[in-house]
Amino acid sequence: MQSDESERTRRVAIDHHHEMADVFESFYAGDIARWDTAFHYGRHKVDLLLDAELKRLEPGARVLDVGCGTGEYLRRLTRLGFAASGVEPARAMREHAQRRNPDVAVLDGVVTDLPFADGSFDLVIAIEVFRYLHRADNARGHAEIMRVLAPGGAAFITYVNRYALDAFYLRQRGRQLLRRRDFDNENPHCEFTTPREVRRDLRRAGADQVEIHGRLLAPLRLVYKLHEPTGARLARAVESLDDLVCAQGWTRPFAGHLVGIARKDARRA
Ligand SMILES: C[S@@+](CC[C@H](N)C(=O)[O-])C[C@H]1O[C@@H](n2cnc3c(N)ncnc32)[C@H](O)[C@@H]1O
Repeated sequence: MQSDESERTRRVAIDHHHEMADVFESFYAGDIARWDTAFHYGRHKVDLLLDAELKRLEPGARVLDVGCGTGEYLRRLTRLGFAASGVEPARAMREHAQRRNPDVAVLDGVVTDLPFADGSFDLVIAIEVFRYLHRADNARGHAEIMRVLAPGGAAFITYVNRYALDAFYLRQRGRQLLRRRDFDNENPHCEFTTPREVRRDLRRAGADQVEIHGRLLAPLRLVYKLHEPTGARLARAVESLDDLVCAQGWTRPFAGHLVGIARKDARRA
C-alpha cells in the first residue's frame, strides 16, 4: 500500500515538473534583485549555504545535481570548474538542462535509483526535490545519495519545515481540505519534516555527520503571497536581523527553508 502511494507521489512530481518546465526556466531568467520575489529571496539564502560547501571542494571535484531541473545549478557548477553531472526524470526539464549544458551528462533517472557506481561523487546536491516525494522515497533517496558519495564527500539537501512560522503546513492542509484531495498534478504532494527528523533520517542512511541549517525565520513568504511588493520591502528591511536570528540554532524548527548537510567520513573504505 505504501509503495503504491510512493509510486503515485513520484509520478505526480515528475508529471508536474514536466508541465512546469518553461515556467521554471523563467524563474532563472532576467536580472531580478534577490528581494523581488519569495523564490529569489529564499534561493539566495540557500545559495549562500551552498557556496560555503562548494568552497570546501578541490578544483575539478565531481558534483552530482539530483533533480537538476532546467540545469541552472549545473551551469554554475561547470563555470566554477567542477565536473558536474545531472539526473532529471522530467523530460521537458531535462531537455532545458541539456540545452543549457551541452557538455554535461544529464541522465534520465530518479533519486531512489541513481545510475552511478558507489563512491562516484565528492558532493551531491538535491535542491527542492525531496519535498515532492513520499516519506518512503525520502528514505530510499537518502540511502542512494549516501551510496554514490565518495569517502570524505557531502550531500546538500533542502527540505520543507513543518513548523515554519509562515504556516506553509497549515496553508497546504487547508488547501487539501477545501479541494477534498491530497494532491494532483497541479498541486503536487509536499513532504513536511523537522530538523530532528532530517538529522535522524540522514544518520540512518549512513551519514557520519549531519549539519542542519534554517533560513528565513520571519514569515516573509506569507507576506510575499499576500502582496509581493510589500514582501520585497519587508525582506529588505529585516534581512540582517533575520540572518542574525537564523544563526541561532534554536530557530531551526521554525525557519522557512531547511538545509541538511550529510558528511561521509574520509576514513570510510
Ligand atoms: C522544484 S524543481 C528543482 C530543480 C532544480 N533542483 C533547481 O533547484 O533549479 C524539482 C525537480 O525535481 C525533479 N524530480 C521530481 N521527482 C524526482 C525524483 N523522484 N528524483 C529526482 N528528481 C525528481 C523534478 O522533475 C524537478 O526538476
